[in-house]
Amino acid sequence: MDGFVTVVLAAGQGTRMNSSLPKVVHKIFDKAMVSYAVDAAFGAGSKKAIIVTGFKEEIVRSELLGKENIIFSHQDRQLGTGHAASMALPFITAEDDVLILYGDMPLLTKETLKNIHDIHKAANADLTLQSTNVDNPFGYGRIVRKDGLLEKIVEQKDATHKQQEINEINTGLYCFKASALREAILGMNNNNAQNELYLTDAVEILLSKGKKVQATISPNNEEFVGVNSRVELAHATKIMQKRINEKLMISGVTIIDPTTTYISVHTKIGKDTIIMPGTVIEGDCVIGQNCTLGPYAHLRPGTILGDNVRIGNFVETKNATLGTGTKVAHLSYIGDALLGENVNFSCGAITVNYDGKNKHLTKIEDNAFIGCNTNLIAPVEVGKGAFIAAGSTITDNLPPDSFGIARQRQTTKENYIKKT
Ligand code: UD1
Ligand code: MG
Repeated sequence: MDGFVTVVLAAGQGTRMNSSLPKVVHKIFDKAMVSYAVDAAFGAGSKKAIIVTGFKEEIVRSELLGKENIIFSHQDRQLGTGHAASMALPFITAEDDVLILYGDMPLLTKETLKNIHDIHKAANADLTLQSTNVDNPFGYGRIVRKDGLLEKIVEQKDATHKQQEINEINTGLYCFKASALREAILGMNNNNAQNELYLTDAVEILLSKGKKVQATISPNNEEFVGVNSRVELAHATKIMQKRINEKLMISGVTIIDPTTTYISVHTKIGKDTIIMPGTVIEGDCVIGQNCTLGPYAHLRPGTILGDNVRIGNFVETKNATLGTGTKVAHLSYIGDALLGENVNFSCGAITVNYDGKNKHLTKIEDNAFIGCNTNLIAPVEVGKGAFIAAGSTITDNLPPDSFGIARQRQTTKENYIKKT
């Protein structure tokens, strides 16, 4: 059998986060860390994913709701990564290779997961672990070698001063033969600084039984950041931001300032679209070609833009479809709306989509002109080519080619002297 299953360890609290939430549901931009890990596993061809949960597990489980081929296994007390891995054993059959990774490794790519499995297979190894070299290895398990040959992994808290100088670290990604994983777990004990069962002890245990254990060193250490604190969360977010933005730029999108532009991994953007600084795009947005977004545009989930759309500064969209050539140049909110082509949605105009209980739809047909500071009280429809005067609060549908004005007439009092 060529396949593999993946075990994601996600039962810990993550005390170093100082949070009431489990660590792995903290988000890199708009997606939980554990979801990145699970998506990478399935992207690499994993047959199923066994997620070991424990601390506030209902929150972790709800993050993964709706994904297929997932099995949850409960770890009652967090007795260490080795103990957590043992919780997956009932769901692993003898012929499967087992990829184990931690839920706090959001930057792992599917290519790396596939690669470690290929290396493992090619060598017919019992355990292949992924290592990398980092400048600052503090906090990571160190790879101890003797004459270049793998000997063991030593955790930060158990390492001697000399071992702490080692720069080759355990990334937390492993590929086991199912039988080797069982054997290693049987040999573990908690005789260490943290009184935990360490998964990392598998190296020494299997080597002592004459098994084939190898470490493959990746030159790309950015991918293996393990997020234990919010400082590391911000660091991982920056790496993810760079990765997403570079992919988009290579595909033909101009991003003027990639360091201030945050785009969800789920968003799709067409060629020759220009994104100005300070723009944030969340979720499954689909953006056409040749659009201009920002500066400081905020596109929220469910935004779909045709080609040549202009979204200017301080405009927020959510669950909104805007047709080709439509312009929303400044200071607007468009939520729960369908706008046709070449609509002019002027400065400060907004959809009033929420009545305190329900969301309602605003529909605007092609070539309509929505004047400045218009309130569109949804549900409401504006027909083709209709024109709304600035400052109107529109509560009634407007037929095509009509003119709507809904504001109080100006009263002008001449020679008016203020009372003091
Ligand atoms: C671990 C590794 C270390 C490696 C580093 C990479 C061990 C003993 N150490 O350290 O060698 O360099 O990751 O980032 O494995 N978990 C459980 N149940 C438990 C304990 C942990 O499910 O009982 C989960 C956590 O939710 C977390 C993952 O396992 O997602 C790793 O635990 P963490 O505490 O982050 O380990 P590190 O100290 O980072
Ligand atoms: Mg960690």
